[in-house]
Amino acid sequence: MSRADFQMEVKEKKRFEFGENWKKFLFYLDDQRVKEAENSIKEMLEVESLEGKTFLDMGSGSGLFSLAARNLGARVTSVDFDESSVWCTDELKRRFFASDDRWQVIHGSVLDKGFLSTLGRFDFVYSWGVLHHTGQMWQALANIVSLVREEDGCLFIALYNRQTIASAYWKMVKRTYTRFLFMRPVWIIVHVLYPTVPSLVLRVLKKKKMPRGMTVWYDLLDWLGGYPFEVSTPTEIFNFYKEKGFSLSKLKTVGGKLGCNEFVFRRNFM
Ligand SMILES: C[S@@+](CC[C@H](N)C(=O)[O-])C[C@H]1O[C@@H](n2cnc3c(N)ncnc32)[C@H](O)[C@@H]1O
Repeated sequence: MSRADFQMEVKEKKRFEFGENWKKFLFYLDDQRVKEAENSIKEMLEVESLEGKTFLDMGSGSGLFSLAARNLGARVTSVDFDESSVWCTDELKRRFFASDDRWQVIHGSVLDKGFLSTLGRFDFVYSWGVLHHTGQMWQALANIVSLVREEDGCLFIALYNRQTIASAYWKMVKRTYTRFLFMRPVWIIVHVLYPTVPSLVLRVLKKKKMPRGMTVWYDLLDWLGGYPFEVSTPTEIFNFYKEKGFSLSKLKTVGGKLGCNEFVFRRNFM
């Protein structure tokens, strides 16, 4: 998909502009959120540092996880195809690693095989909450394989969980939120009431912070607008990558509920 196609889809209200949301999120970025982002990477990858490793952040969004990986010592490549997301990631690079040659930010799409072939291979490929928003999730899941280093490369992805009826409901909400401006306040009010407020109350009672350094408000807008939207089950994803020579090394599911299942796969050396 070219820049022009992307802009056309946004203009026709067929696609949510994630980057515009991320721009506002950056206003609330602080050291605590950056630390939580670093911890989320360390916990799932079971590492203390990424020193000497290469890290591709596919669909970098705000750039927070590229920054976290760079802080952990990796040589980072950030890619996004929404120009505002690229701007956000560049902005974080400017703020924290201005003249650093171990972090590059590139505009490109995971669906563009020609572009992907210029990137090389990486020790870690990270694509959290991205591939289900491309409009061609299974193609994107396949394309990303060529970016993972053949010898023990690692793939960390997060994908929306499939729910029998709820997924169809959320697809309708996201499509109408993106398409009709007048529906936005309606969906925001309805979904602040449920699920945002109950989950916030639970979080306060359990003294738990928002995961991965996110904010409640911008997470809600990202969730409501996040369209295109596709879903999968953990079994489907496990089988898909098993066939491609990967083994699952860590899994965090949402237990059949709403949200993203997280997977860490290792590439088997053949
Ligand atoms: C929900 S955000 C996730 C951002 C970030 N990975 C995170 O965890 O916060 C999804 C991002 O994927 C990007 N994206 C969607 N389709 C893409 C594509 N085909 N190629 C690259 N990035 C894409 C969007 O522009 C957006 O910035």
